Amino acid sequence: MLERKSPAGIARATTSVNDFLLAAPRGGYFFLFFGDAMETVGILGCGALGTALAHGWQRENMRVLATRKSQDRSGHSITWCRDNAELLAQSSVIVLATKPKDAIEVLASLRGHVRDEHVFASVAAGVDLGQLRTALGARATLIRAMPNVAARAGRAMTALSFEADATERCKTQCHTLFARLGRVREVDESALDLYTALAGSGPAFVSIAIEGFADGAVRAGLHRNAALEVATQAFLGAAQLMADGMLASELRDMIATPAGCTVEGLAVLESGAVRATYASAIWATVEKLKSRFRS
Ligand SMILES: NC(=O)c1ccc[n+]([C@@H]2O[C@H](COP(=O)([O-])OP(=O)(O)OC[C@H]3O[C@@H](n4cnc5c(N)ncnc54)[C@H](OP(=O)(O)O)[C@@H]3O)[C@@H](O)[C@H]2O)c1
Repeated sequence: MLERKSPAGIARATTSVNDFLLAAPRGGYFFLFFGDAMETVGILGCGALGTALAHGWQRENMRVLATRKSQDRSGHSITWCRDNAELLAQSSVIVLATKPKDAIEVLASLRGHVRDEHVFASVAAGVDLGQLRTALGARATLIRAMPNVAARAGRAMTALSFEADATERCKTQCHTLFARLGRVREVDESALDLYTALAGSGPAFVSIAIEGFADGAVRAGLHRNAALEVATQAFLGAAQLMADGMLASELRDMIATPAGCTVEGLAVLESGAVRATYASAIWATVEKLKSRFRS
């Protein structure tokens, strides 16, 4: 059973899979997490995000069980359980990935099937730990996780928030689980709306920019497939350089020679208020989250 203990300040940490592998005891953290059982995660509500998480963990050779409401289970290479009760019986770690409006009702309906050793990780935007705990009852470990669909490619950014009495061991175990999908950051729950906008919604915002790049290249004569490939690689390349520590201004200065062609493009972006528009998009997403779930 996972331990819960009394309060500790919530430390913030940035974690990569490598950080954990380097620090892992013999046999790895997953042996501690799952004991003798195979590395199994249950995804309750395997829709858009749930499927991305499932594929991410499958890439890591983990066993994924799942449920969804309808019987339409075509097109997925996922092992489906008959119902949520069977999912709980067969998994210790359950990711609650229904729509936020369904999360509380679904959790409450599971009470009779919950065991102390279960770990519930809710990815439902805007549904707080207090609401989730009330629905779930006193048993089991409960956390909130805010990953994104890039989990499918092992490139997720996941924010994790824990209850006040979560133990360091529990935190380490949850970090390790989500680190298998990309990077992990532990945050205070009050910051989760920001992470939902940045990490959860972020890939959707970036997709518009990539498409815009490609549109321009198509207009100038490039085939769309080639345009998308080049635009995507430009984003990946810039993102990698910045992930490695390069400042945005340094990156621009490396490319934009005075009176050159790149400054012309940058001037168009600035006059189109692209930066401010992106900032406003994040702001609007956070405001929507607050108004929708807290009113
Ligand atoms: N999509 C994202 O990129 C993203 C990012 C961050 C966080 N989130 C959060 O992730 C959650 C899921 O979002 P989504 O976009 O993946 O939604 P979605 O595609 O609608 O997936 C929700 C899934 O829950 C299933 N479901 C509903 N009631 C159920 C029940 N009683 N038992 C079992 N399964 C049930 C649905 O089944 P059917 O398919 O049969 O209807 C559906 O597959 C939300 O809470 C959202 O806030 C999503």
